[in-house]
Amino acid sequence: MRPYIIINCAMSIDGKIAMPDGRQARISSEEDMARVHKLRSEVDAVLVGVGTVLADDPKLTVKKEYVKKARNPTRIILDAHLRTPENAEVMQPNARTIIVTTEKEYKHGLLEIIKCGEGDMVDLHALMPMLYERGIKRLLVEGGSTVIWEFLRKKLFDELHVYIAPFVIGGKGPTMAGGKGIDSIEDAIKLNLFAIERYGEGIVLKFTPSQ
Ligand SMILES: NC(=O)c1ccc[n+]([C@@H]2O[C@H](COP(=O)([O-])OP(=O)(O)OC[C@H]3O[C@@H](n4cnc5c(N)ncnc54)[C@H](OP(=O)(O)O)[C@@H]3O)[C@@H](O)[C@H]2O)c1
Repeated sequence: MRPYIIINCAMSIDGKIAMPDGRQARISSEEDMARVHKLRSEVDAVLVGVGTVLADDPKLTVKKEYVKKARNPTRIILDAHLRTPENAEVMQPNARTIIVTTEKEYKHGLLEIIKCGEGDMVDLHALMPMLYERGIKRLLVEGGSTVIWEFLRKKLFDELHVYIAPFVIGGKGPTMAGGKGIDSIEDAIKLNLFAIERYGEGIVLKFTPSQ
């Protein structure tokens, strides 16, 4: 068994999810921020890669200004070599945090470190049942570029939500799906569009995977 997986990301009209040098950029409109926080409050866990933790230092909690009865989901960090800084926001004891590594196991209070896979990459297929066993039935994958690519490539998603902002960032910064990419157009990851919704000045496109 695996959780129901929603991938969510915000990009500029030219597909960029951050500044050209990888710094965090506020891409979502205020209305989209409200949508994302509501989504976080409806899932059991929010997952990001350690690249996002190091670049953005996100809290991954639910803000009361967007959701009145805010309930923080578990935070999951893919971090093969335990690079998450001890003082990172995701290490604060305001929500449960699971760090997934290829190195060791540990549990204390709201922090759990679990081992899954070998070397540089956490084994995502093996991780999903481990999360399900820990009560995570709905999972929101928020990035970044490498992590979204890996979930798409492995067809580990049920919905993909993309907010598109009406501005251009340019440059060679991170895009929604980084990683190695495909070798031939026949290998493109195909999607079915099922919703187009307006959030302030931008739109959200929602997809399911195509068989
Ligand atoms: N606009 C948005 O919606 C949005 C949201 C989030 C992030 N971002 C942006 O995304 C950028 C960060 O993206 P990123 O690609 O550098 O980092 P990332 O995708 O957040 O993290 C990638 C890292 O996670 C670790 N990892 C371990 N197992 C993995 C697996 N199975 N699959 C994928 N990653 C695995 C690897 O590091 P180790 O080998 O060290 O474990 C890998 O380098 C930042 O610029 C951030 O601002 C944008």
